[in-house]
Amino acid sequence: MKSIAIVTGASSGVGREFVRQLDAGAGGPLDELWLIARRKAVLDDIASGCRTPTRVLALDLTDAASFEVLSRELSREEPRVQWLVNSAGFGKFGDFSAISEKDTADMVRLNCLAVVEMCYLALPHMAAGSRIINLASIAGVIPQPRLSVYSATKSFVLEFSRTVDHELSGSGIHITALCPKFMRTGFLDKPNDGEVARKMCRIGFSPVDKVVRRALRAAVLGRALCIPSLDMKAAHVITKILPASVTMELEEMVLGLWEPMHNTPRG
Ligand SMILES: NC(=O)c1ccc[n+]([C@@H]2O[C@H](COP(=O)([O-])OP(=O)(O)OC[C@H]3O[C@@H](n4cnc5c(N)ncnc54)[C@H](OP(=O)(O)O)[C@@H]3O)[C@@H](O)[C@H]2O)c1
Repeated sequence: MKSIAIVTGASSGVGREFVRQLDAGAGGPLDELWLIARRKAVLDDIASGCRTPTRVLALDLTDAASFEVLSRELSREEPRVQWLVNSAGFGKFGDFSAISEKDTADMVRLNCLAVVEMCYLALPHMAAGSRIINLASIAGVIPQPRLSVYSATKSFVLEFSRTVDHELSGSGIHITALCPKFMRTGFLDKPNDGEVARKMCRIGFSPVDKVVRRALRAAVLGRALCIPSLDMKAAHVITKILPASVTMELEEMVLGLWEPMHNTPRG
């Protein structure tokens, strides 16, 4: 039986780095890497640089039909899924009312629903030692005004991951919710409100390779939560003590987000 790793969002940023490190053997021996994202040409290019045999699945994970394709592939091959990394995701910055309904719905579809669908499909093909890493975010741990829907989707990922991980106790399968701060990836290319994004990025950036290394280590150890940077670990502890309203006010003060931005155009 083939041992495989499935990585969504494999064409860019965090997902691409997971592919690089898994291909280099960081997750143990693999017979195949399955790469998922929409841009086939980019995936083909990444696949051509991998030592591990790869399968490119150019799928839009906001489209329900994509999961039928994947389900068929899994039923046909009956592989052992050793790794599932759900990295596909995006976020739009700005006041809730300034973000289009389409972007809002797609954020929920991709960041939440696709993660659930992927876990449904992969779990029957997993066994003791298999691991799932779901990309949440520090925005899922600390409430983020002006990133409200994104922040809520990442809270969903965090809670979904840790509750299912708990249900899996004794199976030898683990789910890790990864909660990084900002990283320099395609994530910030189309932020909706660039000014809000710029101010929020004042918390600083983590290197993608370090985040992925820490996530793989946490997953191997069976940790349900991975916050890869020390400053965000500290912020997490503080937000457990403070009421959410105080946390959000402090955040706005520190990041210079005080002024109301209710006139931001939909984009
Ligand atoms: N970068 C950060 O600051 C940061 C911080 C915390 C958490 N995160 C989370 O990390 C994850 C990865 O983001 P990133 O930083 O690597 O951003 P990125 O460079 O923009 O990568 C996003 C990936 O998602 C894929 N994708 C987007 N829409 C898709 C769709 N409809 N169907 C299938 N794939 C889709 C993209 O590929 P295609 O365009 O080819 O489809 C791309 O591979 C996301 O879940 C994000 O929320 C990022």
